[in-house]
Amino acid sequence: MHPDAWFASPSSVEALLRRQKFRGVVWESACGDGAISKVFIKHGYPVVSSDIDYYGYPGTIELNFLTGRPRWWFDNVVTNPPFRGWAIGPWIERACAYNRECVALMYPVHVLANLSRWNVGKMRLRRVITLTSFQWRHADRRLLNHRYGICWFVWEYGFRGSPVVEFASPWET
Ligand SMILES: C[S@@+](CC[C@H](N)C(=O)[O-])C[C@H]1O[C@@H](n2cnc3c(N)ncnc32)[C@H](O)[C@@H]1O
Repeated sequence: MHPDAWFASPSSVEALLRRQKFRGVVWESACGDGAISKVFIKHGYPVVSSDIDYYGYPGTIELNFLTGRPRWWFDNVVTNPPFRGWAIGPWIERACAYNRECVALMYPVHVLANLSRWNVGKMRLRRVITLTSFQWRHADRRLLNHRYGICWFVWEYGFRGSPVVEFASPWET
């Protein structure tokens, strides 16, 4: 089991989908037990799910996102990746280097201060969605609220304009 096996709540994924429109195939590239994939599928998106480990989610393709190459088409990379400091930059750079429609990654808010360090090519930061009071669930069954001020960071290919900050709550409808 990966030490960063914290899984997203459905409401945190709904908060993203309420604000960001996606087109085409979504690649959940660190899918865990499918928490994010399931919500995208519920909304009618085609989803490919992969992870370096297997947590029982049917259809998971075992792939190291940082070193492996996908053998499938995708238009968007969406995930809640591992938060380990050294992996943050490489993960953002690799997701953006595919130059697809959209990249949406969940990270602690402090990542914002370092975004300019990483090469995102033609992907442009479109929005940051703060997730206050949401819950995360570990593969070992621990629960955690409001982990380090987590946000969705969303990049769009060729977006022109200034990014917006939005504030999501688990109780919004
Ligand atoms: C924070 S959990 C999130 C899981 C899922 N995205 C969710 O939100 O419910 C991070 C996941 O990244 C996976 N992971 C860690 N390093 C990885 C890598 N190099 N390539 C692919 N997956 C990785 C872990 O196995 C774990 O499932």
